[in-house]
Amino acid sequence: METSGQAQNTNCLGCMRRFEQALRTGSWKRLPKPLFFWYQAAAKEEELLRSLFKETKATSGIEVGCGPGRILEFMLAEIQAITCMVGVEHNPETAAYAKTRFRQERQVEILEAAPKIEKFDISLSMFSTAGNQAEPWIFVADLFNLSTRLTAFSVYKLGLEKERMRIYAQFGHENIQVAGSCIILNDKLVQNLRSQAFSYKEVEAACKALTKDYEIIDASHLNYVVVLRH
Ligand SMILES: C[S@@+](CC[C@H](N)C(=O)[O-])C[C@H]1O[C@@H](n2cnc3c(N)ncnc32)[C@H](O)[C@@H]1O
Repeated sequence: METSGQAQNTNCLGCMRRFEQALRTGSWKRLPKPLFFWYQAAAKEEELLRSLFKETKATSGIEVGCGPGRILEFMLAEIQAITCMVGVEHNPETAAYAKTRFRQERQVEILEAAPKIEKFDISLSMFSTAGNQAEPWIFVADLFNLSTRLTAFSVYKLGLEKERMRIYAQFGHENIQVAGSCIILNDKLVQNLRSQAFSYKEVEAACKALTKDYEIIDASHLNYVVVLRH
C-alpha cells in the first residue's frame, strides 16, 4: 500500500499500522498526490507536536483516539521526562493491540474510555479523530478539560472532499458517501465511520468558546492543527 497506493488493508487496525510504518520509513514521500497529502498531514502533525512538547515541558499526557499508538510512540521518543501517558481507544481490537505494544512501558496505560477526573499536562487527539465524533466540539471541550497546560488536535479542512474520497478509494473503501461536510464510510472494512471536515471560521468559533489563547495552524494541504492553551 505504501509505495503503490494499491488497496491491501483488511481492517482499520491493519491500515493504521501500515500507515505508521510508511511514515517512519519515509516511503510515503514517493507516493503520488492526493495520497501523498494523507501522509504529509500526519508528518506535519508530528513536526508541530515536537515543538509543542518542548514548549510545555510536559511530564504527563493523554491521547484520545490513540489507535494502535502512533502518537504515543512518538511522545515516548520525544519527551524524555514523560512519567505518565494514557492512550484512549474505544475499539476493543485496536485497544488490545496497543496494550500489547506498550506492555513493557511502565509509564503507558491504554484505556477504553477517557478518565473523568484525572488531568494531564497535555491532551491530544490527532489525525482528525474529532471529526469522527457525533458531537465534535463537545469532544474537543472534554479533551481541553483533560489538560492543565495545552491541548492539540487536528481536523480536516472543508472543501477537499473529492481528494479525500480518492484517498479512501485507494485504501480499498467502496460506496463512499458525502453528506454535507461529512464523508461516510460503510463497507466491508469499516461500518458507519463518519469523518467531518470544518471551515476555518467554524474551528475559530469553537476555539473562542473554550479559550482566548488558541492557534489554528494551516499545517498541511488537508488539515489544520489546533492548539488550545490554558
Ligand atoms: C483516525 S484514527 C487516529 C489514530 C491515531 N490517533 C493516529 O493519529 O495515528 C482514530 C482512532 O480513534 C478511535 N476513536 C475514535 N473516537 C474515539 C473516542 N471517542 N474514544 C476513543 N477512541 C476513539 C478510533 O477507533 C481510531 O482507532
